[in-house]
Parts: sequence; C-alpha cells; structure tokens
Amino acid sequence: MTKVLIATEKPFAPAAVNGIREVVEGAGYELVLLESYTDKADLLAAVADVDAMIIRSDKATREVIETAKNLKVIVRAGAGYDNIDLEACTEKGIVAMNTPGQNSNAVAELVLGMMVFFARNGYNGKAGVELRGKKIGIHAYGNVGRYVATIAKGFGMEVYAFDPFVAREKIEADGVKVVTSVDELYSTCNYVSLHIPANDKTKNSINYDLLNKMPKGGILVNTARKEVIDEQGLMKLMEDRKDFAYISDIAPDCKDEIAAKFEGRFFFTPKKMGAQTAEANINAGIAGANQIVNCIEKGDETYRVNK
Ligand code: 3PG
Repeated sequence: MTKVLIATEKPFAPAAVNGIREVVEGAGYELVLLESYTDKADLLAAVADVDAMIIRSDKATREVIETAKNLKVIVRAGAGYDNIDLEACTEKGIVAMNTPGQNSNAVAELVLGMMVFFARNGYNGKAGVELRGKKIGIHAYGNVGRYVATIAKGFGMEVYAFDPFVAREKIEADGVKVVTSVDELYSTCNYVSLHIPANDKTKNSINYDLLNKMPKGGILVNTARKEVIDEQGLMKLMEDRKDFAYISDIAPDCKDEIAAKFEGRFFFTPKKMGAQTAEANINAGIAGANQIVNCIEKGDETYRVNK
C-alpha cells in the first residue's frame, strides 16, 4: 500500500491532519504521522519506507532523501523550500513541490500584528505610535507581500513595493507604489517587510549599507528567513543607530547578543509562528495531500520546484 508520511517537528492543527487523512485514505493510501520529533534519527526511521511525504520547515537533507528509498514525492506544505535538498531529490527522480499561496494570509496577518504590538510597546501601558500615515516597503511582491499590502492599506499606511519579477502594472493595480531599486525602497520607507526567499543570491543580502538607508526610526520586519540577514551588519547598525529596530518571526542566531545590548528595539517570536494558524495548516496541508495524490495517480507536477 502507498504510504504517505506527515513529518512535522511543529505539528499542524488537528483539523489539518484530519483533512489530510481524508484525502490520503480516500485515495486508498496509508497515512503515517511523525509529529513533534526532536531527534533526526526519528525522522530517518520514519522516512525509510514511505512513498510520499508532507513536511513544513523540517529539514529534508540529502541524508533524509537518500534514506527514503521508496520516496517519489515530497511536498513542503508552505512557500519556502530552502529546507529541501533539491539536488538530492532530482538525482533520485523525486518530485519536490511547495504549496504556494496557501499560508500567505496567515504570514501577512502576523506582519501587521507584530508591527502593532511593537508600535504599542508590547502593550505595556506607555504611549506608543500609530501605523496610519507611515510608509511600508514590501521587499518582494509575491503571495505574502500582496496580502501585506492589502492589510497595510486598511491601516491607512502608504504602501511601496520592489519586485523586479512582478510587472509594475500588476503591483500598481493594487494601489501600491512601485520603486525601481531596492535602495529606493529602504530609503523611502519607515517599515520594510521582507518577503524574499532564501537562496544563493539573497542570503546575507540585507546588510548594513542597505538598512542604513532607512529613515530615522526605521523598522525591519522579517517573516521570511533569518539567512537573508547579514547578522554582523545588523548588529553593527543597531550599535550605530539607536533609532533602528528589528522585529522578526525568526530569531536570528545573534538573538542573545541583541537581547543583551538593544533592549526595547527588537521583538522575536519564541517559535516561527507566521503560518501557524488552523486555516493556513488546513489550506497548505490539504493542498499538499491533493498534490501528492494527483502526482502519483495522474503524473500532475504542478508546483514542482526541482528540475
Ligand atoms: C513558509 O515558507 O511557508 C513559511 O515559512 C511557513 O513555515 P512553517 O510551515 O514551518 O510554519
């Protein structure tokens, strides 16, 4: 019998697991569940005989891929697939997919949620500031960026975006101002919200010089990946500019140093929370299950991300 594994170090909401089960068992397959694992050995044991798997930010390294002898399809229930060794998948003829757009609203709501929380001093009773009238720059106008734009406009913010891969007309149709360079985005906006993927071109690309272009009181919001930040540059900037703050859904590796030195100028979620809503889990998890069934049954490779 075809076996489908859900391997989630950070589990889906139960309703999402039930939905995935319905799709998988409805296709006549068996569902195997590995949740909240803390040891890589557990993941390696679980993948050994499965035909397909659904993961979140779980690390599908070459070792995992090579241990999964029967694996044909791996779906990252979410957008960013930097956690999958795509080369290893391609070498083994495994189809790797993501589920673009399915959890985007959840991430976008967290962006604005963290901004309000931070603007109101963590609700500590002291006077904060409002978002209305402030400028927000959306760095990469994909599914999440677009939702951020909609919500930010609802707050009365002026919305700017930079994305060389999306047509200017498409962005402008959303009532968003397009800037022509990344430098212009950072020098224009009070807030910049990151939505770039983590890859060889973007890793460490958010550096001192770029962040230093932000106006006084600039705030960087990161719900993307910690790897895109040049952490040494960020630390130096926070040292040099007492007005600058960093809020992020992914604590940086230098979180302890930031916490020790820059009190009141940062906020990090205790665990990556952007896509952690029942709705996002249901959308992405069930989409992933359907993609697996359609791929195995019909050879449908929509949303394949490896060659
Ligand atoms: C994504 O790339 O879709 C998000 O970062 C969500 O990650 P998560 O599924 O680990 O919460």
